[in-house]
Amino acid sequence: MSDSPQAIVTLNASVVGIEAVIAEASDTAAVTELESNALGKNGPIMAARKAIGEVAAEQRKDVGKQVQDAKVRIEAAAQARRDELAGSERAALLAEERMDLTEVLGTPSVGHLHPLTQAWEELEDTFIGMGFRVAEGPHVESDWHNFDALNIPKGHPARDAFDSLYVNNGEEGSTVLRTHTSPVQIRTMLTQAPPIHIVAPGRVFRRDTADSTHLPVFHQIEGLVIDKNIGLADLAGTIESFTQAFFGSGFTSRLRPNYFPFTEPSAEFDVQRPDGSWLELGGCGVVHPNVLRAGGIDPEEWSGFAFGFGIDRLLSLKHGIDDIRDAYTNDIRFLQQF
Ligand code: PHE
Repeated sequence: MSDSPQAIVTLNASVVGIEAVIAEASDTAAVTELESNALGKNGPIMAARKAIGEVAAEQRKDVGKQVQDAKVRIEAAAQARRDELAGSERAALLAEERMDLTEVLGTPSVGHLHPLTQAWEELEDTFIGMGFRVAEGPHVESDWHNFDALNIPKGHPARDAFDSLYVNNGEEGSTVLRTHTSPVQIRTMLTQAPPIHIVAPGRVFRRDTADSTHLPVFHQIEGLVIDKNIGLADLAGTIESFTQAFFGSGFTSRLRPNYFPFTEPSAEFDVQRPDGSWLELGGCGVVHPNVLRAGGIDPEEWSGFAFGFGIDRLLSLKHGIDDIRDAYTNDIRFLQQF
C-alpha cells in the first residue's frame, strides 16, 4: 500500500504509541484526556478517516475496518487503564481520609478520680476515722438557713462579706445558692438529736470573678460537734488530731482569734508544716447560743464547736497549684499529675 495516504500509513504506529502513553497515565482524568485527544478531531483516527476518500476504491473497505479497529484499540486501552487506576485511587482516598483515633489518647491508660474528689474522700475517711458521720445539705438554700439561723440577721454587715448569688424563687432575697457549708449545721441540728458529730463536705457558691485563687463555685467541709460540756479545748484538740491524721505526724496546728457571727469565741486555724511555715486553713469556734436555739437545741444543756475550710484551697496548698482554675479546665496534662 505504498500509494496509501500518509495518515493511513502511520495509523498503526500512532495507535501503538497512544496505547503505551495511556498504559503509563498516572490517574483516570489523564486517561480520559489522552483518549479524547486520540479520538478527537485533531487526532490520528479522524485524520485517517478523512483520508479514506483518497484510497483506491477496492481497498476502502479494508482501510475503513483498519481505522475502526484502531479506534476500538484506543478505547480498550483507556478502559483497561481506568479499571487499573480505579482500585488504587480508591485505596489512596481511603488512606488519606482515614481518621487517627489514637492521636489524642496516645497509649491507652486507666483514668482516676479528679484530685478534688480524691481530697474530698481522704477528708471524709480521716473524719470518719475520728468518729464523725457525713451529713449533706442542698445547694439551693433558704436565706434563713444560710444566714438568719447562723446569727446573721438581715442587715447584718457579715452578709455583705458573702457575695451571694440569689435564686429567683419566692420573696426576693429569700433563696440563695449556699455561700458556705454552715447551713448544714442548722439542718443537722433540726433533724438529729444531740450528741452530734458530723462533717459536711460540699459545693458552695459566691459572686466572685475567677482568678488564680478564687472560683465562683468551690468546695468546703464543715464540722459540727454538739455534746455536753464541749468547749474551746475540745475544738483545739480535734483540730490538732485532724492535722496529724490528715497531713502527718510532722504537722501541727494553732488557733488565732477571729470573728464569725455563728461562733463565740471564734478563731482562724493554721497548720504548720515540718519546715516551720504556716498554712491558713479555715475558720472555727464554739457554737453561738443563738445558733443552737435556731437548731432547736437548748444551750443550757448542750454546747458545741464548729469548723469549716476550703477543699480546693487545701488542694492548692498541698500540691503547690499556682492557679486553681487549672483544676477545672479538664486538661489531661494537668489532671494526669495527680
Ligand atoms: N462558714 C465559714 C466560712 O465560710 C467558716 C466557718 C465554719 C467558721 C464554721 C466557723 C465555724 O468562712
